[in-house]
Amino acid sequence: MLDMCAAASPLRIGVLGSGSGSNLQSIQDAIEAGTLNARIVCVLTDVPDAGILARAARHNLSAAYLDPAPFQTKLDGEAEQRYLSELDRQGAEWIVLAGFMRIVKPGLLRHFHGRVLNVHPALLPAFPGLAAWRQALDYGAKVAGCTVHFVDEGTDTGPILLQRSVPIREEDSPESLHVRIQEEEHQAYPEALRLVADGRVQVEGRRVRILPPCGNCC
Ligand code: GRF
Repeated sequence: MLDMCAAASPLRIGVLGSGSGSNLQSIQDAIEAGTLNARIVCVLTDVPDAGILARAARHNLSAAYLDPAPFQTKLDGEAEQRYLSELDRQGAEWIVLAGFMRIVKPGLLRHFHGRVLNVHPALLPAFPGLAAWRQALDYGAKVAGCTVHFVDEGTDTGPILLQRSVPIREEDSPESLHVRIQEEEHQAYPEALRLVADGRVQVEGRRVRILPPCGNCC
């Protein structure tokens, strides 16, 4: 059982992303609005010109491209060491995967045991893997959504912290559905991190319990 007590000091977050960084943006916006007691201590990407770097720069966040070689689709071996060293150097305590398009391996998961989160654009366990919004549409589902979950060694299989649903409309294209799912992600990720920062998340096996707000500090 992982039981987190409320911390007065801000949650120190390292963000890993490969894309435009809209989820990073939503988290940083919540921090700047004073609704999330956290600090993004570094942003790391495996894509040299990823939009997430420009967003980080606009908010004066420490950000870097780190060479993801030697593997194509996973973060392992020497690359994992590079990422771990930088996350440690910056004092990251929690890892937020925000559109990071590589599988993180056991080394990083062990190092940050129980403190790695991901957002997935579907209501897990339905539609794990790539382009989940398209999978939901092609399947004929009536409801899609997003999931913030702890990361384990499987693909999109870790304990679920929070989900938000999105109705699928008759006229939806993959693109229009993805836009609405992302709007929900931008609410869900800051909300999930707020629960963690406020010490309200308790993990027991696969079950994640959300504790009531503490009268003194939340
Ligand atoms: C999000 O839609 C997320 O669900 C998926 O990758 C996308 C990242 O988008 N894992 P952004 O880079 O945060 O804009």
